[in-house]
Amino acid sequence: MAGAVSRSAGAAALRLEGTGTDVEDIEIQLLLEGIRLCYGYDFREYALSPLRRGLLTAMSREGVGTVSAYQDRILHDAGSMQRFLGIVGVNVTSMFRDPELMRCVREEVIPLLRTYPSTRIWVAGCASGEEVYALAVLLEEEGLLKRSNIYATDLNEDVLAVARLGSYPVERVRRYEEPYQSSGGQTSLADHYSVTGRTARFNLGLQNSITWARHSLVTDGSFNDFHLIVCANVLIYFRPNLQERAHRLFYDSLVRGGYLAVGKRESLLYCPDRDHYEQVRDGVNLFRKIRW
Ligand SMILES: C[S@@+](CC[C@H](N)C(=O)[O-])C[C@H]1O[C@@H](n2cnc3c(N)ncnc32)[C@H](O)[C@@H]1O
Repeated sequence: MAGAVSRSAGAAALRLEGTGTDVEDIEIQLLLEGIRLCYGYDFREYALSPLRRGLLTAMSREGVGTVSAYQDRILHDAGSMQRFLGIVGVNVTSMFRDPELMRCVREEVIPLLRTYPSTRIWVAGCASGEEVYALAVLLEEEGLLKRSNIYATDLNEDVLAVARLGSYPVERVRRYEEPYQSSGGQTSLADHYSVTGRTARFNLGLQNSITWARHSLVTDGSFNDFHLIVCANVLIYFRPNLQERAHRLFYDSLVRGGYLAVGKRESLLYCPDRDHYEQVRDGVNLFRKIRW
């Protein structure tokens, strides 16, 4: 017995001296590696604290006590993998989340888009689609929707399925009226949807200008060139290396003179080409690619 205790104490000492890594950190690394090998989703370069928070929430919902037990569950049950995606991907979103940014798009980007016969816009990490409909509303009011193609992408098929429907609880959509107005809305947001029971559905004209697709900023490449790219509240969940990758992808996917919008808490800090952009307006995270 004494021998066993001293052997395991010796193993702990070895472990501590060997890696300095907490057991739970090791379990998390193994889980992420397992997810990558089994499902192809790569979370290894996601920022650790939000990932750990999401993981703990997911584990408590699944009723498992350790990361290793959770790994066993996830690797054998695609449904729990899908639920993990929903929690760790943080799908929280809303329309006109950053009204100043939308106002700036209206005032600074639209005049440029008018000069093109057709325009391509990419919303990356679009979650359930509210900000994409906000953009489509703006383009419609500016008379540009018919010659715009909006590509809206996300890692998670479940949220894309919600986005494709274009239907949201009406009480929620009514709350977007105020940010819509402060973003420079020209009429009433209610002009852009119809209500049936407790559901608001965005008009077909808006829906028809949007192509929804699964795309990962970690593993997928560029798929077109764009006049405007919006990627808000996604980069904050990435470590610097991954932010750098995503920025490279955006830079390579923008036409010269194109615009990149990121979230309020995001920046070009880890963008290798940051010197090739200029900020369009102080305090607004909208940048114009001015050089190749
Ligand atoms: C907090 S939401 C942001 C939604 C919206 N852009 C906004 O600002 O309201 C983050 C979204 O990014 C998506 N996401 C996370 N990792 C991704 C990746 N590697 N590639 C594409 N989308 C990703 C998540 O599935 C989630 O829907």
